[in-house]
Amino acid sequence: MTNQSARTPWWRDAVIYQIYPRSFADADGDGEGDLRGITDRLPYVKDLGVDAIWITPWYPSPMVDGGYDVSDYRDIHPSFGSLADATALIEAAHGHGLRIIIDLVANHTSDQHPWFRAALAAGRDSPERRRYVFRDGGGPDGSIPPNNWRSAFGEAAWTRVLEADGTPGQWYLHTFAPEQPDLNWENDEVRSEFDAILRFWLDRGVDGFRVDAVPAMAKRAGLPDADYDDNSLFAAAEWTDNPHWDVDEVHDILRGWRRLIEEYGAERMFVAEAVVNGPGRLARYVRPDELHTAFNFEYVHARWDAGQLLRIIDGTLAALGPIGAPPTWSLSSHDETRHLTRFGRPQAIGGHDPEGAATDLVLGARRARAALLLTLALPGGAYLYQGEELGLPEVEDLPVEVLQDPVFLRSRGERRGRDGCRVPLPWEGGAPPYGFSAAGTTTWLPQPVDWAALTVAAQERDPRSMLRFYREAIALRRKLDDLRGGDLTWLPSPDGALAFRRGQELVCVVNLGDEWIGIEGDVVLCSVRLDDARRLPPDATVWLHSP
Ligand code: NOJ
Repeated sequence: MTNQSARTPWWRDAVIYQIYPRSFADADGDGEGDLRGITDRLPYVKDLGVDAIWITPWYPSPMVDGGYDVSDYRDIHPSFGSLADATALIEAAHGHGLRIIIDLVANHTSDQHPWFRAALAAGRDSPERRRYVFRDGGGPDGSIPPNNWRSAFGEAAWTRVLEADGTPGQWYLHTFAPEQPDLNWENDEVRSEFDAILRFWLDRGVDGFRVDAVPAMAKRAGLPDADYDDNSLFAAAEWTDNPHWDVDEVHDILRGWRRLIEEYGAERMFVAEAVVNGPGRLARYVRPDELHTAFNFEYVHARWDAGQLLRIIDGTLAALGPIGAPPTWSLSSHDETRHLTRFGRPQAIGGHDPEGAATDLVLGARRARAALLLTLALPGGAYLYQGEELGLPEVEDLPVEVLQDPVFLRSRGERRGRDGCRVPLPWEGGAPPYGFSAAGTTTWLPQPVDWAALTVAAQERDPRSMLRFYREAIALRRKLDDLRGGDLTWLPSPDGALAFRRGQELVCVVNLGDEWIGIEGDVVLCSVRLDDARRLPPDATVWLHSP
C-alpha cells in the first residue's frame, strides 16, 4: 500500500479532475455554474478518488472565449462569485485533501483589460502600447497587416485599431480572437506583472497553475512572415519552423517562473498547455529548471490503434524519462470532442466536425472504459475532464443560436466549435436542468432531454455504471504501488493489442483489435465483464496480477 504522505511531490503521479466552472454546478440559480457550486460538490470530487482539481479560468472576463479572455487577474468573474468564494473553495478543497490548480492565461489578455484600453488610448510609441504587440501596417496607407500570421480561430492574427482621432492606425497581434490581444513578453513590465499575479494566488494557497498557450508567448525577433500557405488554418503542431509558436525565447520566461515557484517549495507546480511538434519539443518545456509537467496532446489526439498508441507512449517515455519529468495522459478536455463520442467513430477521429461520420456510442462507451484503464495504468499523472466519469457524449445537436465558441463565430458557422463538450453536468432528476441549477432554470447551454440515466444520482444506484467504474479504477490505482511508482516494461502481445508490466506484478493488456486474446494472471479489474477469465474480448482492457 502506498503511504500518501511519503509520495512526494504529489504532482508526479496525481489524478487530476478538470472543472469547467460555468458547467459544473450552479449554486446561485442563474443558469451558470459558480464557485459555491464547486465547493458544495467537493465531496463528490473527493469520492471519485482524485488527488487534485484544475479549474479553468475563473477571472472577470467578457467571456468571448470561455474565460480565456481575462480582464482582471486578481479577481473572480461576478457570475462565478467573489474572491472570498475562491478563498473558501481553496480552503475547502484542502480540507478534503484535494490540491487545487488554476489557469494562468499569460499569452494574452482580454481587450477589456485596463492595460489594453490604456494602450488604445495612449497611441503609438507609448509605454502602454509596448505591453502588447502593436505594429504599423504596410502599403501607402498602412492598410496591409504587418505580416501573414494567422490566428488560431481563423483569419488574420492582426487587427487594425482606430486611433484617438478616429483614423485607422496601428495593428495589434492576437494569436487567438481579436478580443485576446497578445502580450509582449519582451517587456519587463509584463514579466513583473505576471510574477506578481503568480504570487497573489500562491499566497492564497493554490497548489499550481495550468499555463495556457505556452508556446505562443515568445515570437521570433522582427516578426518575419510564417512559411505557410495563406489558406491554411492554424496547425501549430505541424510546423517545424514557426516564427510565432514554440520559439526558443519562451524558455527564458519559464525558467523565471520556476525560480519563483520554488520559493514556495517543491509541492507547488506548473502544467503547460503546449501543443508542439512531437515529444522531443515537448520535453524542452519540462526540463528540470522549467515547468514541472505538460499535457500530452499526441495521446489526446491518438486514434484507437495499437501501433499508434504504442509509438506515442514509447516516444513520450523516451523523451521525458532522461530529463526526469513525469509524463501526463488525458483523453478529453474543454477543447476536445468528448472521447466517448470520438471512440465511437471509425478510427476514433477527433475534431468537432466529423463530416458525415457515423457514431456508435455503445462502442464509444466500451472503448472509453478500456481507454481509462490504459490511461490510469501509465506512469505519471492523469487528467480527467468533468463528465467523462458519467460517460457523457459530445452534444452534437446544440441549436446554432446557442453556440458561443469563437471557433463557431469566427469560422462563420463552418466549424461548430467546442460548446458540445461544455454542456452543464447532469446531477439528478429526470429532466433538465438535472440538479445543475434549481428546477425551472434555463442553463447557459441546454442539456439533452435524454440524460436522465446519465445523472450522478442514477449512476450512484447502478453498480455497473461508468461512475462506479471510474471510482473503482481510481481507487485501485491509488492503492496499488506498482501503478503509482513502477516502471513500464512492454510485453509481447498479438497484433492489435498492447501489453505492459508496471513495477513487479501488475500487467495491463489492452485489446484494440478484432480478435479475442489470451491472458494470464489473476484479474484485478477489467473494463468489461469477463465470461472466460483467460480471454479478453475486443475493445477491452484488463489489469492482471501476474508476479
Ligand atoms: C487553450 C484553451 O484551452 C482554449 O480553450 C482557449 O481557447 C485557447 N487556449 C486560448 O486561450
